[in-house]
Amino acid sequence: MSWEKERSVIRQIALEAGVLLKSLLGRINRIRHKGEIDLVTEADLHSEKLILESMGRQFPKDTFITEETGQHGADSERVWLIDPLDGTVNFAHELPFFAVSIALQVQGEAMLGVVHNPCTQELFEAAKGSGAFLNQRPITVSKTSELLNSLLATGFPYTMHQNPGDVIQRFNNLTIRSQGIRRIGSAAMDLCYVAAGRFAGYWEQDLKPWDTAAGAIIVEEAGGRVTDFEGNPFTPYLDTVAASNSLIHEDMLKALRLQPR
Ligand code: IPD
Ligand code: CA
Ligand code: CA
Repeated sequence: MSWEKERSVIRQIALEAGVLLKSLLGRINRIRHKGEIDLVTEADLHSEKLILESMGRQFPKDTFITEETGQHGADSERVWLIDPLDGTVNFAHELPFFAVSIALQVQGEAMLGVVHNPCTQELFEAAKGSGAFLNQRPITVSKTSELLNSLLATGFPYTMHQNPGDVIQRFNNLTIRSQGIRRIGSAAMDLCYVAAGRFAGYWEQDLKPWDTAAGAIIVEEAGGRVTDFEGNPFTPYLDTVAASNSLIHEDMLKALRLQPR
């Protein structure tokens, strides 16, 4: 199945949501705290509304799970996982690193993913078995085979203040074993940057399904590997995610152990 209709519909909707987000950048009046450092802005809510209304019209029988308002539609085989603004903290600080992320799972299997950053005008997408693309050009993961030569990325969970220990320990372990670590503040974009070969690997814990579902299929379709920290096959419902060009994967997993050998 080529998913052509779904692909072009969500590409269009992600672009429209991107235009909306960009128009709101720097114009946000109300920011609400969902947790100590977890924010929601008007932009998250407006973007989610736009995406849900458009997708609901196109796919009225499907199930939609969104970050801000939960499940819409009855349970069905086709589940869309939607993050209307991944990188809210960046957005609130007017940093141009945020994205719209939309993924389709059918009977629990990832089929489609689209991630769009309107500030860099980049749209990453993949469909199962059809490769990964950036602005419609094929992309592949990097060929770096040594962890020491690898530029990596990570993110810190919103629960970090309560329990920084493991997160900092893993950050330490990878910092001294890699070329360097970047922290760009959008899990969806981190994954797409692995897919495009910009980062050789990325890891993070305590994410939600809408953060990783689209990016993960884009990494896999670009030739990369995505697992949890133990090496189990990825699903967006796991607590941890490790994505790489596959060549450095085992070394990255070893270093993610709290007592690496
Ligand atoms: C967050 C971003 C960030 C990651 C956080 C996520 P949000 O999503 O992906 O990079 O470190 O854990 O929750 O809240 O901006 O949609
Ligand atoms: Ca997110
Ligand atoms: Ca979000």
